[in-house]
Amino acid sequence: MSAEHDQGGPEQTLTARALADIGACADLASLDEARVRWLGRKGALTEQLKSIGSLPPSERPAAGARINRATERVQHAIEARRVELERGAVERALAEGAVDVTLPGRGEGTGGLHPITQTRLRIEQIFRQAGFDVAEGPEIEDDFHNFEALNLPPDHPARAMHDTFYLKGGYLLRTHTSPVQIRAMRSRPPPLALIAPGRVYRRDSDVSHSPMFHQIEGLLVDENVSFAHLKAALHHFMEAFFEQNLSMRLRPSYFPFTEPSAEVDISCVLCQGRGCRVCKHTGWLEIAGCGMVHPRVFEACGVDAERFTGWAFGAGIDRLAMLRHGVNDLRLFFENDLRFLAGFAGGAP
Ligand code: FA5
Ligand code: MG
Repeated sequence: MSAEHDQGGPEQTLTARALADIGACADLASLDEARVRWLGRKGALTEQLKSIGSLPPSERPAAGARINRATERVQHAIEARRVELERGAVERALAEGAVDVTLPGRGEGTGGLHPITQTRLRIEQIFRQAGFDVAEGPEIEDDFHNFEALNLPPDHPARAMHDTFYLKGGYLLRTHTSPVQIRAMRSRPPPLALIAPGRVYRRDSDVSHSPMFHQIEGLLVDENVSFAHLKAALHHFMEAFFEQNLSMRLRPSYFPFTEPSAEVDISCVLCQGRGCRVCKHTGWLEIAGCGMVHPRVFEACGVDAERFTGWAFGAGIDRLAMLRHGVNDLRLFFENDLRFLAGFAGGAP
């Protein structure tokens, strides 16, 4: 029994094992477990200390001193390991959260209005300055406003030109903004000067046609309004919109709701009239339809056709936007490709 407490006795072996154990602790939790294992109330070194009572009294002081030294060494080792592990934890946290300050910032992109919206606002601004009101109408229309009141009775052949999307219950997606003329004239007496921008729908799709597109309707009703006013107003508008002198031509045409009627072409500003894919190699782009309000339309709206005359036009907003921005495929506007749309962000109308 006494040999156990000699120099090189079991507490020496225990110390060596304890130091190895502590050195192997990889984190603070296992270090605390090791502390309990060696120095806790039932720890191995504590048990050694308790066993001193069974030694002969002469050996007790020396054995006690050795065990106390061993306990002290183990306490120091635990403290040293704790400091090491804590420093390691701090360094790991720093490394994981490391910020590469040379990376460029993520930045906040500025949103912008859709180019079609910018174009619509620009058109509205030009007409507002000339004293026109901006009116609106529903995109889901009834047959009366989209066709019948515009002198397009049920069997009229011109209805076929509209490639209409029909809905249940006699409704349809409006094929043009002209029904807003009807709504305006039926709700207020002349004089009237308004524009009506909005979405319209037709079963139509290629580089210059889209099944959903935008039109702007213009309507002026008063006494002594003439076709010459119409031509001057349109030409003034086109030049204000494009900020340049522009060629414009009126081609005799037919619309059931105007008489006489014309189609408005402007020189193709993408190819300067030389001919390209967009103008179908004609040098001209059809931008609007127009004419003098048909007496039958006045009649459907309760306007005195003996006293008043009026002109109306309907233009494609998308085509105006294409020309202004040099875009050669109408469909790009509606594909929601941010790389395309971002080019217009922040743009003034
Ligand atoms: C009309 O829609 C008549 N309501 C215009 C009008 C109003 C005439 C008032 C007389 C008085 P049209 O179908 O031609 O006419 O269309 C007018 C314009 O809309 C065209 O000149 C063109 O610029 C544009 N447009 C027509 N179809 C499409 C389409 N599928 N995609 C894009 N733009 C189109
Ligand atoms: Mg047409």
